[in-house]
Amino acid sequence: ALIALRQLLDFAAEHDFAVPAFNISNMEQVQAIMQAAQAVNSPVIMQASVGARSYAGEPFLRHLVQAAVEQYPFIPVVLHQDHGATPDVCIRSIQSGFTSVMMDGSLQADMKTPSDFDYNVTVTRTVTDIAHACGVSVEGEIGCLGSLETGKMGKEDGHGADGKLSRDKVLTDPDEAVAFVQQTQVDALAVAIGTSHGAYKFSQPPTGEVLAISHLKTLQHKLPNTHFVMHGSSSVPQEWLKIINTHGGDIGETYGVPVEEIVAGIQYGVRKVNIDTDLRMASTGAVRQFLTDEKNAKNFDPRKFLLASTAAMQAICEARYQAFGSAGQA
Ligand code: G3H
Ligand code: 13P
Ligand code: ZN
Repeated sequence: ALIALRQLLDFAAEHDFAVPAFNISNMEQVQAIMQAAQAVNSPVIMQASVGARSYAGEPFLRHLVQAAVEQYPFIPVVLHQDHGATPDVCIRSIQSGFTSVMMDGSLQADMKTPSDFDYNVTVTRTVTDIAHACGVSVEGEIGCLGSLETGKMGKEDGHGADGKLSRDKVLTDPDEAVAFVQQTQVDALAVAIGTSHGAYKFSQPPTGEVLAISHLKTLQHKLPNTHFVMHGSSSVPQEWLKIINTHGGDIGETYGVPVEEIVAGIQYGVRKVNIDTDLRMASTGAVRQFLTDEKNAKNFDPRKFLLASTAAMQAICEARYQAFGSAGQA
């Protein structure tokens, strides 16, 4: 059944686990996430960006998730809007049947420029007022996702957005976070601790200098009852990076967030862990590997290479459910 994010995260807090939130835009991702959840008995968070909605189209996305709920009636599923840029985007998602929305007011509506505190509170509060009236949960964000190595916000090509964020912009300010939660009444809070979106997070395996897991402890001290969300939480599996690069790909040396660091964050209140890049890499690696394998040279049935993609993604989903403790909790 579809459930609200708040319901799931309250349960996760009670039982000290976190739930991976996987981005979806196609059927294979949905099937991989659900098959893995079924295999280990985990609740599910599927999230869709505005880009995903325009890729699949709103009706296809909605029905993909409905199909998942129908096929797996005993798995609780949250359908979450990822990074809504404006209240309008979030309201459209509520209308479409999402059970949770993220109002990302940490950036202005262009999703590139950091915003100020008052703007963030105003847009987020607008969304919580409407969402809560509809039984829908809200995630807000305070602080700017960005690299403590470079000050960049992170992008797929590794070059990052324009402008440089200072260290104090990158790390969520604890007092601001307290005021933000109090004024907006969000159900979950995305915090910035040095992670960024995409594959290019760290130029070497991260240390505490650039991945501030310890900052979560400070935040939890001030906000003991708030559910934290970690964005940019892909681990960038080195084995998939290698498979992509040995089968015609060209991805530079790069490192993600080690699973054990995320697990360390769970004891400080992390309850939702956003993952997109890892499934993209597994899917791309599996398809490249399949299509460049000589013994598949005569294949022209897409189901064959899409099955390889689904299997690769499913393995990652299962590993995350196990590591974050959501396995066995459905
Ligand atoms: O937060 C970013 C997610 O990875 C979604 O990316 O906008 O390309 O769908 P997207
Ligand atoms: P990754 O790019 O690390 O997978 O992060 C995804 C994310 O935070 C979506 O909101
Ligand atoms: Zn994100």
